[in-house]
Amino acid sequence: MKSVLFVCLGNICRSPTADGVFKALVEERGLTDQIAVDSAGTAAYHIGNPPDSRSADAAQKRGYDLSSLRARQVIATDFEQFDYILAMDNENLANLQAMRPNNATAYLGLFLDFATVSEDEVPDPYYGGGQGFEHVLDLVESASVGLLQHIEKEL
Ligand code: 4NP
Repeated sequence: MKSVLFVCLGNICRSPTADGVFKALVEERGLTDQIAVDSAGTAAYHIGNPPDSRSADAAQKRGYDLSSLRARQVIATDFEQFDYILAMDNENLANLQAMRPNNATAYLGLFLDFATVSEDEVPDPYYGGGQGFEHVLDLVESASVGLLQHIEKEL
């Protein structure tokens, strides 16, 4: 069993998108019993909220269902519970590094290290237009394929 936690700032746009896209890929490959997927935010603003409707709608158009997800904040025990903690941008990563307990066992890094794109961050789409949400999906789809290829070798 392997487990992955996707992390952004609010847990209502980027990390729920990664959660939904990666889960769909895991299901498609018949690996739901072997790979657990979750997402969280470094900030507390949106705890308990469903994904932003712009993220949910853009995801739905590509066949991903984000409706069951609810925002939560990253907690210290996540660093022992998960095998991979993957940040959407460098600020998220710095915040995670700052709260990382000494007994942490999780791999901590940028999600896009697993993608075949030239960018290294998934940009925050919250204050931008619709194109930002499509771009998030493009980046997340690329990194999800790479991440699953990586994890499949460890199963
Ligand atoms: P996320 O996007 O980190 O991708 O979920 C954001 C959501 C909310 C806020 C910022 C970014 N906010 O400032 O409330």
